[in-house]
Amino acid sequence: RPRVLSGIQPTADSYHLGNYLGAVRNWGILQADYEPFFFIADQHAITVEVDPKVLRRRTLVAAAQLLAAGVDPERSAIFVQSHIPEHAQLGWVMQCLTGFGEARRMTQFKDKSAKGGEGSSSVGLFAYPMLMAADILLYRPAYVPVGEDQRQHLELTRDLAQRFNSRYKKTFRLPEPYILKETGKIYDLQEPTSKMSKSASSPGGIVEMLDDPKVSAKKIRSAVTDSGSEVRFDEAEKPGVSNLLRIYSALTGSTIEKLEDEYAGRGYGDLKKDLADVVVDFVTPFRNATHELLDDQTHLTSVLAQGAEQAREVASRTLADVYDRVGFVAPA
Ligand code: TYM
Repeated sequence: RPRVLSGIQPTADSYHLGNYLGAVRNWGILQADYEPFFFIADQHAITVEVDPKVLRRRTLVAAAQLLAAGVDPERSAIFVQSHIPEHAQLGWVMQCLTGFGEARRMTQFKDKSAKGGEGSSSVGLFAYPMLMAADILLYRPAYVPVGEDQRQHLELTRDLAQRFNSRYKKTFRLPEPYILKETGKIYDLQEPTSKMSKSASSPGGIVEMLDDPKVSAKKIRSAVTDSGSEVRFDEAEKPGVSNLLRIYSALTGSTIEKLEDEYAGRGYGDLKKDLADVVVDFVTPFRNATHELLDDQTHLTSVLAQGAEQAREVASRTLADVYDRVGFVAPA
């Protein structure tokens, strides 16, 4: 079976609806037909300063949420990035393959370093896409299920894989991004032309999966729409309504056309009220399952230990090939 691999950063106390619909939900779906590897990217999370206690807590909460979202440890290797030293080891090799200018063109680095300027960003933030390339290439996956905002990183990953293959010897498989048109970009509820984002959204713009469901319902009911009244999918004219329809469709399986018919002649208020109910019905069991997994962490810890073992087996073989091909002398 071809492999799939993806990762998520433990940079917040809860995933948001964009993380779930854009990425994690697809992980649960793909695990049936592929050999899946999914991990919590804790090493990426220290590219900006974070309290160690907070990072530790968030890493476990992130893992619990993966299980609650349907990623099944019987089928998928679920692990923590820092448990597999090969990520950082291959990351170094990837950095040595990357041009300075090439790294500087990464839009996410440009965005994230925009506030304090390049000078106040860590070298780790700059090198982040090369670590991400290593995360991926170690497992030689066919697909990488992510949201639209990771596309450029995937392109760099493919370039680096190709560069390594042609400079040394064919070693890496070129991974394909797996990005769904319908859910690859979920937008901020208050600012529906920007993506829903852990770091950039205002509290009212982001649905946190572990929030009190009543709070999430209220955020949906207060989402920004537009001055018209017709419920119609039109990204240019009606970005707010279109985003709500997108979320509604993804959570219920109903098509957007069907939803447009259903709400014909009714106003935005009805749409938002119903979607608020849909969101409550969805997040309530998710939240309960996550809390249950965190109450007694023995299951969670053993899942992560088992996942690390599976991951390490694959990662160590790839790294051994790489070290040999770049000319490192094998230790006696
Ligand atoms: P991260 O932790 O920021 O986000 C996790 C996943 O959620 C997706 N996502 C969204 N999808 C749709 N709409 C949104 N508004 C939205 N916001 C976030 C992201 O695209 C991502 O798929 N660099 C990665 C983590 C990573 C990784 C990897 C991913 C590290 N190594 C290797 C894949 C393979 C990141 O920061 O995702």
